[in-house]
Amino acid sequence: MKAQEICLPSENETKISAPPPLRITDYFIQQSARVEQWLDRLLPGANESPTTIHEAMRYSIFAGGKRLRPTLVIATGEVFGAEEQALLPAACALEMIHTYSLIHDDLPAMDNDDLRRGRPTNHKVYGEAMAILAGDALLTQAFITLTKMRGISPENQIRVIAEVAEAAGTIRALIGGQVLDIENEGKPATAEELTAIHRAKTGALIRCCVRVGAIIGGASESELEHFTEYAEKSGLAFQVADDVLDATATSEELGKTAGKDEAAQKATYVSLYGIENARQHAEQLYQEAIAAVRQTGRATERLEAIARFIVERKN
Ligand code: IPE
Ligand code: IPE
Ligand code: MG
Ligand code: MG
Ligand code: MG
Repeated sequence: MKAQEICLPSENETKISAPPPLRITDYFIQQSARVEQWLDRLLPGANESPTTIHEAMRYSIFAGGKRLRPTLVIATGEVFGAEEQALLPAACALEMIHTYSLIHDDLPAMDNDDLRRGRPTNHKVYGEAMAILAGDALLTQAFITLTKMRGISPENQIRVIAEVAEAAGTIRALIGGQVLDIENEGKPATAEELTAIHRAKTGALIRCCVRVGAIIGGASESELEHFTEYAEKSGLAFQVADDVLDATATSEELGKTAGKDEAAQKATYVSLYGIENARQHAEQLYQEAIAAVRQTGRATERLEAIARFIVERKN
């Protein structure tokens, strides 16, 4: 190389400052785009026969949504340097299960909702029979997807599959929580009953996302405990915030019908404690969540920012 081509950096240029930390909203945008690319590959194509079911599955999956659950899987996995080829299928599987639960939650026999993710609900477009089947199909597709994880030991893969199956199940888990939610309509719930409903119907899947990310990344058992505590507190805070938003935000802001809980006499944090106390409760859960992960000494800033987002979100 000729001498004049050698270009030495000036003194100022040598002081390379670290890039500014990514804002959490930008992180969500980035990870949502990544998750959507993977979802597109992992779901049957809309032209695949029978096309109606595949269209119905894709209608609800690609209707938007915050992608909180897959983002939690990824953010936790990243703390431990997890492999993308294992992490992204798991993240997508959890979004499929979440979306199935929303389709069924909106059915006339359940919350009877017309609006979801800013669009008419699945059964409004495809009819009840197809909406039930689209939910069933997304749940099934989630487990097909979990078999597609790569760069993970067979032991850990089975562990992940068991974690997801249990979180979607009936014991202190999603379906069990939906059962309690329905059975407690119109009755005043105690604080213990309400916590049990929320932990199960919403908390279990959020807890599972963090645990799955940590397991794929090879977290130690003691780290897994601290991350689980973070997830349990954040998961509960998430449903407390959902209850507050149902009572305070508009349908336009939420992309789903506001004020449904009071109309259906649901047991919520707002019905039990009022809006202000519910907000304070979410704030306290946030503090406990971040304290739990900070103890690990890992780089958990992003998970802390996600917990903040969970309690401050507007939809
Ligand atoms: C709504 O979940 C259902 C609850 C468990 C409260 P989200 O608020 O995460 O819904 P999307 O995925 O952003 O639509
Ligand atoms: C839904 O809870 C929980 C599940 C779908 C498992 P909600 O009934 O409060 O959710 P939204 O408010 O309709 O989104
Ligand atoms: Mg419901
Ligand atoms: Mg509902
Ligand atoms: Mg709600």
